[in-house]
Amino acid sequence: MPKDPNISFTSAKDDPNVDLTLRPVIWDEYIGQEKIKDNLKVLLEAAKRRGEAADHLLFSGPAGLGKTTLAYLVARELGGSIKTTSGPALEKVGDLAAVLTNLAPGEILFIDEAHRVNPMIEEVLYPAMEARKLHLVVGKGPSARTLTLDLPPFTLIAATTRENLLSQPLRSRFGATLRLGYYTIDDIKKILTRSAKILGVQASPEAVDILARASRGTPRVANRLLRRARDFADVHGEEGTIDAEAARRTLAMLEVDEVGLEPQDRKLLLTIIQKFNGGPVGVNTLAAALSEERGVIEDIYEPYLMTLGFLQRSPSGRVVLPAAYAHLKLKQDGELL
Ligand code: ADE
Repeated sequence: MPKDPNISFTSAKDDPNVDLTLRPVIWDEYIGQEKIKDNLKVLLEAAKRRGEAADHLLFSGPAGLGKTTLAYLVARELGGSIKTTSGPALEKVGDLAAVLTNLAPGEILFIDEAHRVNPMIEEVLYPAMEARKLHLVVGKGPSARTLTLDLPPFTLIAATTRENLLSQPLRSRFGATLRLGYYTIDDIKKILTRSAKILGVQASPEAVDILARASRGTPRVANRLLRRARDFADVHGEEGTIDAEAARRTLAMLEVDEVGLEPQDRKLLLTIIQKFNGGPVGVNTLAAALSEERGVIEDIYEPYLMTLGFLQRSPSGRVVLPAAYAHLKLKQDGELL
């Protein structure tokens, strides 16, 4: 199938990471991230009152926290229209040019995985963001000319899990950077309760608590665990209700522990403890020892382990902290307690 960078709503259906049934569509349904919501509401209201396109926005933070959902909420607030694409989908300058020239006035352009936009395309993005100009080089060699097109007013929303990989010139062109953090257990409980209602499944308060604690502060993980617990309860449970027993057994089946660690997280900690004396160990060495990509370690595993106080990134490398030894029931020498 040819790649079309100019994708819109429907493409979300093909994305297993996007849970359309459970995704909030109005602000009041979006739980948590209160500061970000407050900031956005002011910014959007001001843009609406002035009758201008809102400033370009950068959403950063770990995967699964609702960056795309927020972009859709912003679009809805500003009148509904959004086109979405992603860093890797924009292969050539022409791909971005096609997207930009197809924007309607006031429309939102959402670029996911913005840290993967290639530098040549970034160069085209700068004047588009700053002056709504599209500079295209047509022709080659001595006869090459630059063609400048005017773009309609639009708002770029870029999302990234790796803000530090965005170039400084790109970062500086956003009117606001909104950093999403992990949700509290209470917020995840609210999200699970809302999702259970939408899915038409009963879950006891204790079951919700157990699932919430294992959700890594991440709505996407919470909703996935809820669906698996619903499967379990449908097959084994009493009248399909998720009780504490069903929640615990679902986690055991998925090899997720009570704080949300998965086998790969435990392997990472155990590797540092047993092969590298608890650290410090450099991330490249760790990646080789785990046969895992460095980016996956940095993006997926480490942020949550650091939030739990299990791991520290120090200048000389990664270090496992005492809380992790206690959680894994290990002594300082790596032997079982
Ligand atoms: N699903 C994903 N993010 C959510 C949020 N913040 N509130 C409610 N449901 C969500």
